[in-house]
Amino acid sequence: MTTNSEKKWDTLKRNPKLPTPTPVDREIILDENAILLSITDTRGVIEYCNEDFVESSGYEEYELVGSGHNVVRHPDMPRVIFKLMWERIQKKQNIIAFVKNMAKTGRYYWVMTDFVVKENEKGEVTNYKALRKPAPKEAIQEITPLYKRLREIEDLNGIEASEKFLKGFLDAKNTDYDTYVERLITDNLGNISLSSASKEVSKTTEKKKGSFFKRFFGIE
Ligand SMILES: Cc1cc2nc3c(=O)[nH]c(=O)nc-3n(C[C@H](O)[C@H](O)[C@H](O)COP(=O)(O)O)c2cc1C
Repeated sequence: MTTNSEKKWDTLKRNPKLPTPTPVDREIILDENAILLSITDTRGVIEYCNEDFVESSGYEEYELVGSGHNVVRHPDMPRVIFKLMWERIQKKQNIIAFVKNMAKTGRYYWVMTDFVVKENEKGEVTNYKALRKPAPKEAIQEITPLYKRLREIEDLNGIEASEKFLKGFLDAKNTDYDTYVERLITDNLGNISLSSASKEVSKTTEKKKGSFFKRFFGIE
């Protein structure tokens, strides 16, 4: 059963004019320099997406623009991750997440996604922006079994149970969601170069401020 407290965002059905692909267990390897950008309205309807986003999704630009962002939703993604993401951005806070997306062909690609809130001068939210880079392989190796457990829990006992499990999982590691995800990224960046600002930030214990991609890669 879906209650209001579980899902505040879902007014959008997957665009019925686009067929839902059957998942294919084959990864799409993204160019390591790719930056996949999309901008949505406050309901998550895509208003703009860049060439890297279009290309990796396998859809045409005209199929994406005007569609809800769940057009690329992969059934392996735990709902609790989107719940967390919507709760944050609706509070005007940013968040970073590992997301497995499904292309039009049914194949998948993993990204690390930085969600940023856009406001007007009156402080009203106008848009959400998502910046994505290919996710480090080692991070995906760690996150895949966690997501699988979350999905299984959700399937059997609902999102409240998976939310509690995620909390317990993080508590057991003496960490919180943001610290855990940032550590997974920074520990596994390999050759990806960090901006000089990020090196300054990582030296301090100061509360993290601003978008992760801005701090770590110098892009926003
Ligand atoms: C800026 C922005 C970017 C998003 N990017 C993705 C994405 O890349 N993949 C995805 O599955 N959902 C993305 N979402 C979340 C979707 O809107 C949706 O909540 C999610 O796919 C779950 O779909 P469902 O509610 O139909 O289960 C994004 C939302 C916003 C606001």
